[in-house]
Amino acid sequence: MEQSLKHTLHEQAYQWVLEAGQLIKEKMDTPLEVMTKSSPKDLVTEMDKAVESFFLEKIRKNHPSHKVLGEEGVGEAVHETTGTVWIIDPIDGTMNFVHQKTNFAVSIGIIHEGKAEIGLIYNVMEDTIYHAKRGEGAYKNDKQLPKLPEKTLDQCLIELNHFWLCPNRRVNEEKLQQLVYKAIGTRAYGSAALELAFLAEGITDAYLTFSLQPWDYAGGYVLLEEVGAKLTDAAGQPVDFLSRTTVVAANTSIHQEIINDYIELK
Ligand code: IPD
Ligand code: CA
Ligand code: CA
Ligand code: CA
Repeated sequence: MEQSLKHTLHEQAYQWVLEAGQLIKEKMDTPLEVMTKSSPKDLVTEMDKAVESFFLEKIRKNHPSHKVLGEEGVGEAVHETTGTVWIIDPIDGTMNFVHQKTNFAVSIGIIHEGKAEIGLIYNVMEDTIYHAKRGEGAYKNDKQLPKLPEKTLDQCLIELNHFWLCPNRRVNEEKLQQLVYKAIGTRAYGSAALELAFLAEGITDAYLTFSLQPWDYAGGYVLLEEVGAKLTDAAGQPVDFLSRTTVVAANTSIHQEIINDYIELK
């Protein structure tokens, strides 16, 4: 992506993400309409839809040729990553948003000709924004995040979610148990975007999940690359920004070891 376009898009996305956060905060104390999607555990609120529509309007007005892939489907269906694609999770961690009114994020990834170029994750209630441009480092607010140090697994905090424990997950649970046993600790924050941001910040060391959608990981992708971490599927293959996938994101010093020794899909 051409340098000046990358800078403009980053600046605009940064501004719009903050405005989206403001929109959410202003309505924080108004009762929410909570609806369910695929199951009673899959929540959505009118705020998720309003924030996604807010982005769609901004992007359509400023960049009519860009595609928009958002979780709530207010944009058109996107089947390929040619051109420029904005991948939007208006509220990542809706369950936290509804039940805790904190620990959720607005996440944006911008993909150009199939390559992730820009990523932003806004931790709304903490008012911290993680952001990165390909080749230009990752930042938390205006502070550059350092490259992640080398670590061994027994020094690492691993982010997991409970889906690994659900029945019918086609994974070797015993191997995962060994990973939990080997690591120094485990965490589950309930927002994939924040979990990736924390990994980029170096306050956790890996994030493993059985199923993520592109909007869950697109905002974190460039952040991770810029600090020297890696995000792939559970077989170590690149993700495609279009389909649901397993995800193993980790400090590079433990990424392959986790895949080789602790994940066996059945
Ligand atoms: C969810 C969160 C959660 C993850 C789920 C996602 P949503 O996103 O990121 O942490 O475990 O897989 O669907 O629905 O709150 O945007
Ligand atoms: Ca959702
Ligand atoms: Ca999400
Ligand atoms: Ca969401």
